[in-house]
Amino acid sequence: MITINEHYLKLQASYLFSDIAKRVATFQKNNPEQDIIKLGIGDVTKGLTPASIKAFHSAVDEMAEDTTFRGYGPEQGYDFLREAIAINDFQSRGADISADEIFVSDGAKCDTGNIQELFSQDIKIAIPDPVYPVYLDTNVMAGRTGTFDDGKYQGLVYLDSTKDNNFVPSLPSENVDLIYLCFPNNPTGSTISKADLKTWVDYAREHKALILFDAAYEAFIRDESLPKSIYEIEGAKEVAIEFRSFSKSAGFTGTRCAYTVVPKECAAYDSAGTKHLLHGLWNRRHCTKFNGVSYPVQRAAEAVYSAEGKTQTKALIDYYMENSAVVCKTMDKLGYDYVGGKNSPYIWIDGQMDSWQFFDMLLNKAGVVCTPGAGFGKCGNGYIRISAFNSHDKVREAMDRLTNALTD
Ligand code: MLT
Repeated sequence: MITINEHYLKLQASYLFSDIAKRVATFQKNNPEQDIIKLGIGDVTKGLTPASIKAFHSAVDEMAEDTTFRGYGPEQGYDFLREAIAINDFQSRGADISADEIFVSDGAKCDTGNIQELFSQDIKIAIPDPVYPVYLDTNVMAGRTGTFDDGKYQGLVYLDSTKDNNFVPSLPSENVDLIYLCFPNNPTGSTISKADLKTWVDYAREHKALILFDAAYEAFIRDESLPKSIYEIEGAKEVAIEFRSFSKSAGFTGTRCAYTVVPKECAAYDSAGTKHLLHGLWNRRHCTKFNGVSYPVQRAAEAVYSAEGKTQTKALIDYYMENSAVVCKTMDKLGYDYVGGKNSPYIWIDGQMDSWQFFDMLLNKAGVVCTPGAGFGKCGNGYIRISAFNSHDKVREAMDRLTNALTD
């Protein structure tokens, strides 16, 4: 008899964004005349930059000729991209990361979900609340939690991110082995200072713990004093793995390209206490289960780092950040409390009511889709997340409709 992985039965019925998409589709079916504006899932709306498109096209042309055709590439990514990443994203900021510590992949979602395979079943995991659901669900699937009880999974250490701590969690009071951090944060848009991030690195070093640092939104940081990478913090290379993505920074949500940094010094231990380097283990996993990102996509990603690519990518990010400013201004006018939006494409708003109720109200009265905070965890109750990824016209229109819905 074939039996299932019963840990799957502990999961909520469906993945947050699939659930929302279904609700929106049903609403649209029942209200075909309503023009819906989507500010829910963080999916980009603007085309790829001319620099990426040009590189993409010419790489596709190379694939047409026997002499320039590429078959399987290196699983870890082509050197041209790994080198461009190491130089531009790390070495330029004083972070000593080399090209062979970069693993190119098809998404930070996949990497943040898959990385937990490297660790044993009985580790203590610290997970933020609210949180990007992938970190949590993949550990539930792997059997590292108990059942879901009163909005929390048993066996995890939750790092509450609330107004009281300015949405930056404090160190846990009990010992943990694996820590998920995401800054600029999804979903709250909050950021962490170098000093606060250092307390986490120091904690990890002292407790032989590991930090999984999701920096998928670093490109939206405006405040020069904030760290873009955890490797800007001294001592982080031994205790942190970092995840990055071209999805939000360069419009690659549909094109798919991301990378994970596993420094060569970064280690974990076996049950006898012997140290093992994670670079080799992740490399083994990557080669076994992944065959690399396609050549044209890697060329398109490489073009992000060309002179014109940098200018055009910055313009893309600036465009979405103008939307963030419009959302923040609307919330200021309406007197709603919020965080994010200044160094992030997400604005986390205290909706002053149940978040799913707010979601339904906004959809029904304004035809605007947001993401209910409760979908990201118990601490998200009462909040909604608005994403800045849409056109200027649509965001302005959505803010007008939201203002009418909230003030009528
Ligand atoms: C989000 O809206 O939180 C993200 O778009 C989801 C993702 O990147 O997978």
